[in-house]
Amino acid sequence: VLVHELHKLESLLTVSAGTLKKITDHFITELEKGLTKQGGNIPMIPTWVLDFPTGKEKGDYLAIDLGGTNLRVVLVKLGGNHDFDTTQSKYALPEGMRTAKKEVLWDFIAECLKKFVEEEFPEGCTAPLPLGFTFSYPATQHSINNGILQRWTKGFDIEGVEGHDVVPQLQASIEKFGVPINVVALINDTTGTLVASMYTDPEAKMGLIFGTGCNGAYYDVVKDIPKLEGKLESDVSPDSPMAINCEYGAFDNEHLVLPRTKYDIQIDKESPRPGQQSFEKMISGYYLGEVLRLILLELASERQLIFKNQDLTKLNKPFILDTSFPSKIEEDPFENLSDVEELFNSVLQIQTTAPERKIIRRIAELIGERSARLSICGIAAICKKRGYKTAHAAADGSVYNKYPGFKERAAKGLRDIFDWETEEDPIIIVAAEDGSGAGAAIIAALTEKRLREGK
Ligand code: BG6
Ligand code: GLC
Repeated sequence: VLVHELHKLESLLTVSAGTLKKITDHFITELEKGLTKQGGNIPMIPTWVLDFPTGKEKGDYLAIDLGGTNLRVVLVKLGGNHDFDTTQSKYALPEGMRTAKKEVLWDFIAECLKKFVEEEFPEGCTAPLPLGFTFSYPATQHSINNGILQRWTKGFDIEGVEGHDVVPQLQASIEKFGVPINVVALINDTTGTLVASMYTDPEAKMGLIFGTGCNGAYYDVVKDIPKLEGKLESDVSPDSPMAINCEYGAFDNEHLVLPRTKYDIQIDKESPRPGQQSFEKMISGYYLGEVLRLILLELASERQLIFKNQDLTKLNKPFILDTSFPSKIEEDPFENLSDVEELFNSVLQIQTTAPERKIIRRIAELIGERSARLSICGIAAICKKRGYKTAHAAADGSVYNKYPGFKERAAKGLRDIFDWETEEDPIIIVAAEDGSGAGAAIIAALTEKRLREGK
């Protein structure tokens, strides 16, 4: 029976080359639709980053990054020759911050900034420091230094922020704590990744995050973005580039092409924002452990095929397994999977048999492989939409950097979509430069330059 269940899971979770191609085709349509006035599932947010970085941008900037696993504060020194130096501090988001009161969140950030500035500038500052704020959630921008949160993603649920500009909220806390800082630009982590990677790599064509969430940014051309009509200053040329934060975690919220399983449907239903981020919920780090948990729970509790006579209290707890859990299962180098044994013991208080561990490993592989293969449909769609025959797709995030096999599986997925016959893949995923640090700083520098030029 168990073997039969495993075969069923294999067919549910395996994404064929044909399906990848179909998804990519629909993805292109949805990217286009998001740029129209009436819009679509994918927000396709104009970022008001209207210049390509030249690599010559210079100066000292502060940057903060909220949206991944940690809050990061970074001092960036742009060297002006495609180079930069960073000094950074990481602050783990305290337990409960995802659902705290908004003042608690903004004050926490302001306090971290205060600590950082006091350490880095012990003699004080003569002028307010310009800060680039990487806020990695969908935020509508009317200019570079504002961002109205459309909706929280990745399990955040803080009242009084959706529908509001987050910049004055943060600035108010910064002032309350008397920190000499001016927020000059609000950026998404993908936009930062794009710009920072282009600063050092001229082949970089898009910035991607495969982490807690999943998203991408690329440059489009103003005249091809119908939703900008009436919103541009008259001196912006129709041929000007404009970075777009796709927010494609929301791809296929209509459920037309993604091979969703009952586990994905349950995760969505029980999330704080059902119906949103359909693509992201199948593939990003925040959800991979949860997919595994639901499958194991079904096999153990409903079917009674594994973990017989064991206490399943822990396994019943939503989100008890973070991404490191399936990741460690796949990494176990031992023939008898003794790391998996130890992991189940310590995290779930479940004793596993050797055959059970084999099955667990296979399920983890299926989840990891599905994530990687689906993840790259965004890359393929952007390349096809923009006509890129060759490209570096610059990627960051914990899943890209740490999940075993992700890079190889993603590369294979791209090959399946494009059927290249060349010896080397023309479109490759490369490790990105520090988007929320250097990227935010470069965007702050580009913004200051525009202001100096009276644009
Ligand atoms: C970091 C980037 O490396 O990855 C951040 O600097 C980004 O900007 C983050 O938000 C995403 O990864 P994760 O896994 O922390 O969500
Ligand atoms: C979520 C956010 C998006 C971010 C991505 C990666 O999809 O909505 O803004 O870029 O996660 O962090």
